[in-house]
Amino acid sequence: MANNLLKGKRGIIFGALNEQSIAWKVAERAHEEGATFVLTNAPIAMRMGEINKLAEKTGSQIIAADATDVEDLEKLVAESMEILGGKLDFVLHSIGMSVNVRKGKHYTDENYAWTMKGFDVSALSFHKVLQTTKKLDAMNEWGSILALTYIAAQRVFPDYNDMADNKSYLESIARSFGYHYGEAKKVRVNTISQSPTMTTAGSGVKGFNEFLNFAESMSPLGNASALACADYCVSLFSDLTRYVTMQNLFHDGGFSNVGVTQAVIDKFSD
Ligand SMILES: NC(=O)c1ccc[n+]([C@@H]2O[C@H](COP(=O)([O-])OP(=O)(O)OC[C@H]3O[C@@H](n4cnc5c(N)ncnc54)[C@H](O)[C@@H]3O)[C@@H](O)[C@H]2O)c1
Repeated sequence: MANNLLKGKRGIIFGALNEQSIAWKVAERAHEEGATFVLTNAPIAMRMGEINKLAEKTGSQIIAADATDVEDLEKLVAESMEILGGKLDFVLHSIGMSVNVRKGKHYTDENYAWTMKGFDVSALSFHKVLQTTKKLDAMNEWGSILALTYIAAQRVFPDYNDMADNKSYLESIARSFGYHYGEAKKVRVNTISQSPTMTTAGSGVKGFNEFLNFAESMSPLGNASALACADYCVSLFSDLTRYVTMQNLFHDGGFSNVGVTQAVIDKFSD
């Protein structure tokens, strides 16, 4: 259901790889709500070509950018303002990757070169995006910048590996940069902590299916879908949430505040 919540707003959406991607759903919902935006992803992700379908569907242009490369980001932000005809109102950072996770390296046996790579892609890139938009004075007042995160930043989920540390850092950037950006430019910065979701990044985590079912049974409302996450992103890009900043916002069906559920207790009864 569209309500024109983002009518006239311009943005950049990072991280739509395929139809499962959370960023893909955000792009579809933002389009329905009247926004115009540029789609971006790492040059290597372009090869799959899927993003062209999304660009066509949403009337968007695509600019390739490696989110760890400041020059790429400067070009992306400058060109986006030109294409869209003005400063930006929203940015979605929907990026995550751990080489240690991909290659099955245990948390207690990290390859630190891989750790640094994953940290740069998953966490520091958010700082780079924020710093670039601020230096180029690319955001309108009351603009909203969001990154996606996971509760492994607060609690241990053993197979989430070094991504847990990356997410902690990512959430800290939202607070620290959010302070400076708010004071200087009235720009909001938040992270959304999303339920486990079946996507390319999500399914890379060992035992993901079992984990998805566990989270489902530990959430009074059940796991939040990618589409529901997109709705939440739209609300945070809209003018209805203008005083929300520097927050980590759980979007998880209640999972984060549950100790145990009856469904889980029942599994342990004789
Ligand atoms: N799927 C889940 O269970 C889940 C849960 C909570 C949070 N998240 C977070 O949501 C975000 C989106 O992930 P997703 O689940 O939609 O998976 P996804 O695999 O569809 O998206 C990850 C994206 O990161 C992009 N990316 C990787 N390296 C990049 C680089 N150097 N520069 C630019 N882009 C790069 C990939 O191309 C891809 O589009 C991630 O931050 C992820 O950690 C996912």
